[in-house]
Amino acid sequence: MWTIIGIAVVLIAIIFPLTNKSFNTPADSGKGNDEAELRIQPVARFELAKAEAAAASGPKDGPTIYNSVCGACHNTGAANAPKIDDKAAWAPRLATGKDALIKSVTNGKGAMPPKGGATLSDEEIAGVVAYIMGKVK
Ligand code: HEC
Repeated sequence: MWTIIGIAVVLIAIIFPLTNKSFNTPADSGKGNDEAELRIQPVARFELAKAEAAAASGPKDGPTIYNSVCGACHNTGAANAPKIDDKAAWAPRLATGKDALIKSVTNGKGAMPPKGGATLSDEEIAGVVAYIMGKVK
């Protein structure tokens, strides 16, 4: 009987300090939060700076998007894309109207992936389609 109690006391003496960490006083846990905040601050600041930079650069304009995304196919005719200087290839497409072309770019058409495979806002798509339409007229 006393042996069992003795063992129980020893076990409690060993385990209690270990579990004690989870029973922090409010003051302690408050301090812990501050430390955690301090530790994530550099990362948080960095993420914020990135977000601000992205917002500052805003939507990209037509030529920028064309050169970085669309030109890969439309400059070279890769994947049988109508080339930017091939007015004859564009004439029937232009005839379908700007909205139809925007829809093709947004949803993809044939070998062209949706949005040319990039992440573009509706505004950016409208801008780059307008740019192409001006070029191929
Ligand atoms: C992977 C190659 C590829 C990329 C990248 C690409 N295109 Fe295309 N694009 C094509 C092909 C191929 C067609 C012809 C599709 C068809 O008619 O089957 C096409 C057709 C088009 C058309 C005519 C659509 C129609 O309804 O006839 C427009 C407008 C267009 N592309 C704009 C863009 C814009 C804007 C981008 C960049 C955001 C872009 N493309 C990126 C391959 C590409």
